Amino acid sequence: MKRIGVFTSGGDAPGMNAAIRAVTRTAIQNQLEVIGFIGGYSGILQNQFRLLQARDMANILQRGGTILKAGRCAEFFRPEGRALAARNLKEAGIDGLICIGGDGSFTGARALFLEHQIAVVGIPGTIDNDVAGTDFTVGFDTAVNTALHLIDKIRDTADSHDRLFLVEVMGRNSGFIAAYVGLAAGAEEVLVSDFPVPVDSVIKRIQEAIQRGKRSSIIVVAEGEKSGRVYDLAEQFRKRAGLEAKVAILGHVQRGGSPTAADRILASRMGAMAVDALIKGHRDVMVGVQAGQFVLVPLELAIQKNQKQTPQEFLKLVHYLAI
Ligand code: F6P
Repeated sequence: MKRIGVFTSGGDAPGMNAAIRAVTRTAIQNQLEVIGFIGGYSGILQNQFRLLQARDMANILQRGGTILKAGRCAEFFRPEGRALAARNLKEAGIDGLICIGGDGSFTGARALFLEHQIAVVGIPGTIDNDVAGTDFTVGFDTAVNTALHLIDKIRDTADSHDRLFLVEVMGRNSGFIAAYVGLAAGAEEVLVSDFPVPVDSVIKRIQEAIQRGKRSSIIVVAEGEKSGRVYDLAEQFRKRAGLEAKVAILGHVQRGGSPTAADRILASRMGAMAVDALIKGHRDVMVGVQAGQFVLVPLELAIQKNQKQTPQEFLKLVHYLAI
């Protein structure tokens, strides 16, 4: 193995730069050249790449976003797109490829391996934490902390005006950010799509809280398939029970910012391990962390849908503590 490629794909996540740095510098320590593809899979399709050197990695560890840019690439879902990618990779002399992204990105990486024998290793990077086979993904901890700081501010104004707030956090089909931030922020309720709760039960819980003397409440809602549905919920509260709720959608602010120490450490360890795995001949795997141990997980497992549910004990504890 002489030359490896690395790219970031899907939605960006804080800590991706720390992973790129660890991949690049570990590769260089092992006398490998590193090529960075720009803009995810489309960078491979359009031959947009550059040689990454140790000094290029200076001062990126603490920066949010990704210096390699990121994106979702529809062309890659077609076999012809993947055939072109494989040709370009071979022409660029790439002996191994590291994909930093989520389950969608890994589905493409796996197809490249199965159809064209490209040696791929994945690093889970998404704020959603919805990749199976790893307890945590790069970017999740930062997103939770960002959302938490914002909700703490919302609580100040909710408390001052005795108001009910519905706060939408990110998570396409994933309730992890909602569950973690809901518990950390002392929310009254966390609503996620994999454990649906009837609107009337939520209303009843809020009305009971008001009767117990609570004057302000925060309900954290995971965005689910489409951002903005939280407005419908507010409307239902008003129509069904005359409950006025303010809506706050935290949105893309959760994807930005300097990564937390936890994300920098996770990304650095995963980046180093991914290169080591390629050198040792592992393919079609993702680096994961399970109960504190760093492990290699087959990509086949990592891309399985609905394998990683929102932790229900978090939802129960939120209720239990919100008396
Ligand atoms: O996958 C990460 C994520 O931030 C989701 O939580 C969110 O639904 C989605 O990306 C938003 O994607 P985009 O930035 O393409 O609108």
